[in-house]
This record gives sequence, C-alpha cells and structure tokens, in this order.
Amino acid sequence: MRRRHLLLFAAGLLLAASCNSPKTTTGKTLSFPKVDSLLKVMTLEEKIGQMVLLTSDWSVTGPSIREGYLEDIRRGRCGNIFNAYTADYTRKMQEIAVNETRLGIPLLFGYDVIHGFRTIFPVNLGISCSWDIDAVRESAVIAAREAAAAGLHWTYSPMCDISVEPRWGRISEGAGEDPYLGSLIAAAMTEGYQGKDLSDPLTLLACVKHYAAYGAPQAGRDYNTVDMSERWLREFYLPPYKAAIDAGALSVMASFNELDGVPATANKHLMQDILRDEWGFQGFVVTDYTGINEMVCHGYAEDEADAGRLAVNAGIDMDMQSASFLNYLKEQVESGEVSMKTVDDAVRRILNVKAALGLFDDPYRYCSPEREKELTLTEENLRFARKLSAESMVLLKNDGVLPLKTEGKIAVIGALADSADDLLGSWRGAGEVQHIPRTILGAIREKVGEKNVIYARGCDELSDDRSGFAGAIAAAILAKQVVMVIGEDCQWTGEAASRTSIKVPGVQTELLRRIAALGKPVTVVLMNGRPLDLSEESELAGAILEAWYPGTMGGYAVADVLFGDVNPSGRLSVTFPRNLGQVPLYHYAKNTGRPYVHPEAKYESRYLDSPNTPLYPFGYGLSYTSFDYSPVALSADSFTGDSGITAAVTVTNKGPREGTETVQMYIRDLVGSVTRPVRQLKGFERITLAPGEARTVEFYIDAETLSFYRQDMTWGAEPGGFNVWIGPDSSTGNVAGFSYR
Ligand code: BGC
Repeated sequence: MRRRHLLLFAAGLLLAASCNSPKTTTGKTLSFPKVDSLLKVMTLEEKIGQMVLLTSDWSVTGPSIREGYLEDIRRGRCGNIFNAYTADYTRKMQEIAVNETRLGIPLLFGYDVIHGFRTIFPVNLGISCSWDIDAVRESAVIAAREAAAAGLHWTYSPMCDISVEPRWGRISEGAGEDPYLGSLIAAAMTEGYQGKDLSDPLTLLACVKHYAAYGAPQAGRDYNTVDMSERWLREFYLPPYKAAIDAGALSVMASFNELDGVPATANKHLMQDILRDEWGFQGFVVTDYTGINEMVCHGYAEDEADAGRLAVNAGIDMDMQSASFLNYLKEQVESGEVSMKTVDDAVRRILNVKAALGLFDDPYRYCSPEREKELTLTEENLRFARKLSAESMVLLKNDGVLPLKTEGKIAVIGALADSADDLLGSWRGAGEVQHIPRTILGAIREKVGEKNVIYARGCDELSDDRSGFAGAIAAAILAKQVVMVIGEDCQWTGEAASRTSIKVPGVQTELLRRIAALGKPVTVVLMNGRPLDLSEESELAGAILEAWYPGTMGGYAVADVLFGDVNPSGRLSVTFPRNLGQVPLYHYAKNTGRPYVHPEAKYESRYLDSPNTPLYPFGYGLSYTSFDYSPVALSADSFTGDSGITAAVTVTNKGPREGTETVQMYIRDLVGSVTRPVRQLKGFERITLAPGEARTVEFYIDAETLSFYRQDMTWGAEPGGFNVWIGPDSSTGNVAGFSYR
C-alpha cells in the first residue's frame, strides 16, 4: 500500500512537470522529457497496456473480441479506448484510469469522426467536390469542436486513400482520384482537426489512414490485394498521406491490405523507411481493426502471437482490437523476440502524443458537459453544413429544366426523397436522424407549399417491387415538373460495401424511363457514394444533380440548388465512366504507344463497344451561368533552373447571374525518362464572378510543378517541352506550349 502511494506521488510529480513541456502539432520537435522519466518507472505490463486500444461496446465495426474492457483499464492493460463518447461516459472511464491504476496515466479516446460528429456534413467524396479548401478545413474545425466537447481526443480521419475504383464502397470516404487535390484536402483536414495547439480542448488528434494504398484493391473488392509499382505508389497514392503528415498529423493507421506481398500492418518499408526515415514522422502508428490477427489469414503469420511480433517489429505502436500485444508481447520481450527498445520507442511515441494533447495536465480537459451542450449542433454549425452541402453538389446535366419554377405542381418521386437516414451516409459519427430538419421532400414542400407537391414513393432503392409505379406515374401526369430522387441505399457505400455493378440499383431507372416517356421536365437528384454508370439516366433526364449523401442539412441544400437560391459550383473529384468495363478510368492516364486517334482504326488502344472517354470527366460540373475562357497567356515560353513562368487566362461570366467557377490547370510533360500522364492537375482556383465580370487567373509554374519520380527514382524536373491547359475540367480548356531548360 505504502509502495503504491509513493509510486503515485512520483508519477504525479512527473506528470505535473510535463505541463511545461513544449507543445507541437508539427511533429518536428515532439519531445516530452518527462515522458522518458515516466517510462523509467513503468513495468513491462504497464508499457504494453499503453500499446493496447480496445473498443467499448458502442458502434463497433468488426468482431468484438474482448469482454470486460473496464477491468482491462483498471488493471493497466488497456490505455486507449474507442467507440465511446459523451462527456459523462468518457469521464467515468477516465476516472478509472486516473484513480485506480498504479500510475494514473490517462486514457486516449478515439472515434471515427469522418464527415462531422453531431452536425453531419456530406460524405467526404462529396466534400471534395467543393474544391473549396477553406471550407474543407472549416468542416474539420467544427467536427473537432463538437467531438472534443464530448470527451473525444482522437479522430480516425483524414482518410487519404486515392481511389480510381468505383466498385469499392469506401471511395465515398476519400477525396477522389487525384493526388494534388487529395493532398490539399488531407492537409486542410489535419489543420482543421488539430488546430494550432493540440492541447486546445476544442481540437482533436488526426489519424492519417489507411496507410497505404487501401484505395486500390484488386477488382474493387474491399480488403483485397493491392499491388503496384513503387513509382506509381509514390507518384499517385502516397502524396495525400504525406501532406497530412507534413501538416502535423501525429498518428497514422496502417491499412488492412497487403502491398507488394507484405500486409501493411507488418510493412517495414512503409512504416520505417518511408514514414519515419524519409518523412520524419514522430507520432504513433495504430493498426486498423484486428489488423494484426488478420495477418494469419493473409498467410503472413503463423498465429496471432507471430502476427503481433511481426507487427511491432515492423513499426506498429498500437494494436487496435486484436489483443495480440496484450496476450503475447510480454513473453516476446522476455524471450528477446521483441526488444525492450522497440517497446519503449512505441510507448514513448504514444505518451508523447498524450502529453501533446494536454492529458497529463488535466485528464478531463475534453469532457465538458457545458461545452458539449453549447458547441453541438449550433445554428452556426448547421448554417455552415447547409452551405458546404450545396457546394459539394455537382450539376451533371441541365437542358434548361433547372432551376425549378416555383409555380405549378411538382411531383417528387422516390423513396430516397423522403429518407432522413440516407442523408447522413455511412460513418455518420454521432449524427442522428432526429437532428435532420427536413428531408429533400420536406424542404421542397417548405419551399413551394405543401399543396403544390405531390409525393409518390414509386420504388425504393434496392428492391424490384414495381407496385408503386402507377402512383408515381399518376403523380407525374398531374405535375408540371418532376423531381426523381434515386441512387443507392447509404449502407451500399462505405466499408464492406463493394459492388460488381455501378448502375443505379433496383428498378429505379426503369421507373425513370416510364416517367421520362411522359414528356415532362424531369430532374434527377442522385444520392450515392461512388461514381455510377449514368449512361441511361443521362439520356432520360433533363437535368441531373449529384447530391451525394449530403448530411444533416442536405434536404435544405438540395432544395437551395434545385430552386436556384444557390448556383451549383461543385466539380467532380473523380471520373464518372460510361460503363464498368472502362474502369479504372482517371484523368492522369498515359498515352500508350497506340493512342486512339483515328475513328475507324482497329489497332489503336480502344474498345469495340464503347468510347474511351468518360461520361463526365474529372473536374467537370455545370453552373446556372456560363464562363468564357481566353487563350492561355504565358509570361515567357521557356524558363530555366530556379526561375518560373506564369500561365494566365481571363475568365468571364457570360451568363445572367453570379456564379463560382473552378479554374483548373493541367500539365503534360511531352517526353520523360519515364512516360508521363497526358494531363495532370497542377493547380486550380475558385473564383466568384458577377454577371459580365471578368477576372484574370494566374498560375505559377516552376521546376517543382514539373517534378516527378524520374527513372532513377529521384524527384525532379527534366528539361524539355510541356503543354499547359487551363479550363473548366480535365477534358477541355485552352492549351499553350513552353519549355524548361
Ligand atoms: C475501418 C477504419 C476505422 C476503424 C475503427 C475499421 O473497420 O477500416 O477506417 O477507423 O474500423 O472504427
């Protein structure tokens, strides 16, 4: 007893002294000397406990393999908990860790705060289509504020997985196909979550996931094998992870997949060579959910003990939910299979982050019922959510039926039109249906008056029940305009939600065909989380608005865009193919030795039964106004060494109303020591122009803009000729040529 008190006193002194340690979110100077001192008094079991992360019994996303986690906390066997929130609940658990364990080291509470916590924003693929980096950052600021007030310290976000795979359900969680846009978004989200000082109780620790290349599973099946060249990995897949690390993210989650035959969970090349040695990452690496055990199924480890040993020796610091560290690590250290230094390094990284979060100063700093009340679902948060939701929507087609007229009856058709649940999408944090003020139907009714709206369910998203067709057709006959809300059930995207078809499911398109045959103006609103094959819908509908899963305020936001209160400005962050056979289809493709240029040619790189081009290219999106682009003006037609040139266009709003245009710059390196994409996004700027207003947008091009992994894998630019396009998407725009010498 006496000994316990002495130890508690010693630990207390150490923890109190840590208050004065430097705080950082940059990862560059992360060092808390007192954490080293604490390490000196910890037993091996206590150290291992800090390396264990267990789920509480809320919101689990996988097998719950351990009962009695409270007892594990009490016995110092578990230093980190996820899937538990609210100020009260986290405080109760924190009290066990602080008051009942020998050293009183506070718990770290994690959760999947992916696109909002209580106020839910559109799914991340939707957010990325705003191309509004400040808004992306602000969404993370709000999410962090709401979540941190509920006792959380750590979010498993940003998800930095580039993906060109629409079959993969998790494409909805990322920022699309492009490494440049994806990197800006990854950095902005990290900055938004972590703020300037991690110990600020309004911020969260970010977790960069899923490291690495989880977005490239073969055949789009979740968790499937990933294999790609080191060059492709570095050029197209790694940049967003690195951007988040450079922005100061202090935790990384290893992905489920294997890469080049080695599961990411035991991949030394990823965790040591690249992440720590090259990028200088100083935070900790956590596995994904039971990632360690899964290496047995991968055929990489003999059993769970072996898997844990491989993981920790490769650079994993924290075991999410496999209990392999808990059960076997002590023995492995004692037998010398895992060195004490490996354990100490892992624990130091974890405790440093806990110190940076300010948990040693005040373990309860994040649990504040008052703040929880005051900062959650505020009017300001909801207003912002409505704006971001509208900004994320992409107008894919409009033959003039939008904006909708407010006079005359409107038929609203489709189960999704009145589904509050689907508005939230997958990974909805602590978002609840009861906080949604209006569904899409509700918002349209509010806009034009109940009596002017005829609602018919028609059919739901998945079944082949056609019994509602007659009612829907009758509603359309009575109306002047038709809005059909179709798409995917929100559980059809996200984790473990891969598809072998990317068509609109069920009989929704069949109903659209019947409705379109009536000859009324038909607008399709899409709710979905992946690029869909819209080849038929794009023929049938007069207008198509891609609304994604638009979040808590999504009903209002859809109505804002449909009726023209908001002029749509979203641009696709991912290519929409014409059919699944074209997949993968992305804008930074190479030319091949036989590019398809002659319409009748046989021996050129083409399909016999489909064009090569997408239905809607990356960067594409319409507005209720139109923009005109001048030719590209270069400040010089060549540059050398450290200098650079500018490429400029003047963009004019030719239409009748104010609008926001995303001006995009793409570059091609004509000859390289390795082949280069035909076009690659290298810059963009969002501008808002009044009717008739013109603005010159200028991009700076220097050697860094032209750099890539050359044949010898060094990063740099090569002299030669280049093309630069500036335009409204990846398939059009004016072009100019220049050289770098
Ligand atoms: C997912 C992660 C998530 C984790 C914790 C896993 O199944 O792959 O993205 O952060 O669960 O909920």
